[in-house]
Amino acid sequence: MPHANHTHHAPLSGDAAHHADVAGAGHVGGGSAASAAPDAGAASNSEFSLAVWDDTTASWPRRPSEVGEDAPSVARVYNTYLGGMANFDSDRDFARRVAAVIPEVKTLAHAHCRALARGVLVGMEHGARQIVDIGAGIATVWSTHHIARAHDPTCRVLYVDNELVAVESIRAGIANDDRLGVLRADVREPDAILRSWEASQVIDFARPVILVMGLLWHFVPDSDDPAGLLARYRTALAPGSVLVLTHDTAQGREQDMALLAQLYAQTNRPLVLRGREEIADLLRGWDILDPGIVYMPLWRPNTDDPDLGLAAERSCVYMAVART
Ligand SMILES: C[S@@+](CC[C@H](N)C(=O)[O-])C[C@H]1O[C@@H](n2cnc3c(N)ncnc32)[C@H](O)[C@@H]1O
Repeated sequence: MPHANHTHHAPLSGDAAHHADVAGAGHVGGGSAASAAPDAGAASNSEFSLAVWDDTTASWPRRPSEVGEDAPSVARVYNTYLGGMANFDSDRDFARRVAAVIPEVKTLAHAHCRALARGVLVGMEHGARQIVDIGAGIATVWSTHHIARAHDPTCRVLYVDNELVAVESIRAGIANDDRLGVLRADVREPDAILRSWEASQVIDFARPVILVMGLLWHFVPDSDDPAGLLARYRTALAPGSVLVLTHDTAQGREQDMALLAQLYAQTNRPLVLRGREEIADLLRGWDILDPGIVYMPLWRPNTDDPDLGLAAERSCVYMAVART
């Protein structure tokens, strides 16, 4: 059994702590939180911009057929949990149905931001200064480059997602920064990501990388061979690379998560809930760091972390950080 009460003073700097403060109110759509983030301000030539996702703005360029606003998308639904504005009625309706099953879903989403940040900073402690964040989601003040650059402003990040709104929200937020890149691609096609032009502009795969995969693999069914895909990523990365992974689970909360899975079956990404053993199978060949595969709030919490007050076994999420 891993060390469930392990505490750790991750080197979360003042700036990153600031992001933590603003994240509760933060959204990409506009106003104080977005402007409070140091790297989020650049104007974009994109047809989309951060502000267009404020759907109170009458003039924003709608492309409903491509965006698919009539059906909930997991990226946009997750954005509602974080208090964002990059979402539509279908997403918000869906999020309300989720909250009826998991009333603390917003608290858990914010706890998840902090957990991923702890994982990224541990990856940086191992020396990596470049990050590939796959299934990155919609841009927020918690986006990975904000976390990493609070520690080292030279960090490079390639963001990858297969959802249009997520990709365009990131593109708008990183314009004019040649150390940041974004790619619309599917995690199930590792070579399309690893050998992409976008990756080649930002990432040197001869050097260690932090591979962030937050709340991603539960959208990949066993029939797609997630363990084989993760192995492909592992063998492509330089020695010393670090994987930061979180994954939804029903363990500890079986009834609620069965209802949640029924809801997600209606989205573009049904949920595949895996237990600790199944996640360990996915990570075969990786060197899993202490404290192992544990409920997300228990993964090296800071001693002053608000998430220490959460009932860890009801967090519905396992976390692991591993080395190649
Ligand atoms: C729950 S969100 C998590 C966002 C972010 N990683 C985080 O932890 O805050 C899951 C993200 O994974 C993306 N996603 C789902 N399946 C994917 C796939 N096959 N390839 C790439 N991205 C995918 C979704 O579009 C969404 O943005």
